[in-house]
Amino acid sequence: MKTTPVLLAAGLGTRMRSRTPKVLHPVCGQPMLAYSLMAARQASTETPVVVIGHGAETVRTWVGDSARCVLQNPPLGTGHAVLQAEELLRSEADLVLVTYADMPLLRPETLQQMVEIQKQNPGAITLLTVKAPDPRGFGRVLRGKDGKVEAIVEEAAATPEQLSIHELNVGAYCFRADWLWDALHRLPVSKKGEYYLTDTVALAVEDGLAVESIVCTDLDETIGINTRVHLAEAEAVTRRRINSAHMLAGVTILDPNATYIHAGVTIGQDTVILPNSYIEGKTSIGEGCVVGPETIIRDSSIGNDCKLFKSVVESAVVEDKVDMGPFAHLRKGAHLCRGVHLGNFGEVKDSTLGPGTKMGHFSYIGNATIGRDVNIGAGTITCNYDGVHKNPTVLEDEVFIGSDTMLVAPVKIGKRSRTGAGAVVTKDVPEDTLVVGVPARPIKKLNSDQK
Ligand code: UD1
Ligand code: CA
Repeated sequence: MKTTPVLLAAGLGTRMRSRTPKVLHPVCGQPMLAYSLMAARQASTETPVVVIGHGAETVRTWVGDSARCVLQNPPLGTGHAVLQAEELLRSEADLVLVTYADMPLLRPETLQQMVEIQKQNPGAITLLTVKAPDPRGFGRVLRGKDGKVEAIVEEAAATPEQLSIHELNVGAYCFRADWLWDALHRLPVSKKGEYYLTDTVALAVEDGLAVESIVCTDLDETIGINTRVHLAEAEAVTRRRINSAHMLAGVTILDPNATYIHAGVTIGQDTVILPNSYIEGKTSIGEGCVVGPETIIRDSSIGNDCKLFKSVVESAVVEDKVDMGPFAHLRKGAHLCRGVHLGNFGEVKDSTLGPGTKMGHFSYIGNATIGRDVNIGAGTITCNYDGVHKNPTVLEDEVFIGSDTMLVAPVKIGKRSRTGAGAVVTKDVPEDTLVVGVPARPIKKLNSDQK
């Protein structure tokens, strides 16, 4: 049976008070729509259809070819929104799985269960409900004496007696397609001038077709995001889910409530994450690392057995056994090879530091290629910018840079050479040479026992 998901994402999202379309607001680093799409895909066989409207072009760009978009303009309610998919799906789908794209916490397993029940249901609809103490403005589920679902009434239209019902409409439905398309054309118009998808329930009952339901027992799954207060609730639940999955896979998280890991981040076994750390974007961390406290890693790859103490790492590559911090800052294009040590107040940008290289204190390295086992003394700076261009610095293997050296790029220092404290190096230095002064001049050739 062909089951096609339809995600509703065209609403105005007025209650968010935002220039950004509601479904693109991020939850743990991914737009909420990404979660709904993922869940829908796992519960169905066909490419999802996303109904877009408010902020259509922005949403369409984000969706790309991960789904098919149809436009609803103007937004005349959730029933009218589904109708926009009729042309595309009338002759394609056997079952239509409708979810609202503002419900990122619905689990794929729950949707799968609904699809399974609808496959057995000779009637028209299987829907998801929840029993909750706080109705949160959700539609109420009305059941008959036989316990069967008879209708959904929206809060605004409910009688006081109906308002006291605590079984709520979550906003996920599996429909028999051939019945759905015609039913949508028969929907009544509401007082607000909208066509509610929820009114399909009463129509099915009128048609003598069974409406099945599943009661969702996990309240968290049913959080729908209408305001930024709900957004923060969804973020907290998602954060808990992500952190639990890492912990069950062998990562120690000292305080999961104070550890912020984006969806999609990978972390190896026996890595320890200390509080107030943020691990974001496309980031992978190897095994046996200690990250934090108070470390920020974004869009970076970290090897095994690294220590990242109170540091900021952005768009960088860090190989195995690197230790850095406190207050180290890797910027875009920084690449630290195996065993590099980066102490406090070091900044590295668009540069490679070779294996075993040490940079202990207060240095800036930009646009540099640095070999293995180089020692970078305290306060060393690559003067890489001449006001127009970023110029390169090359330090070959085993170079020793004295404290407070200025490397005025473009400049290259040959293997095993050294600079004196306070040197301002403006010209290339050959191998095995000691340079000192301002501007730096060679004062002697070095042989191996002087080093
Ligand atoms: C809806 C349900 C309500 C349910 C609640 C659960 C209806 C009429 N009501 O109310 O029973 O308890 O969700 O969260 O369905 N949308 C469109 N086009 C439109 C209107 C909305 O695409 O014309 C989209 C929105 O972008 C949103 C979703 O449909 O993703 C739900 O719309 P929303 O306005 O948030 O409905 P609720 O008031 O939450
Ligand atoms: Ca909603």
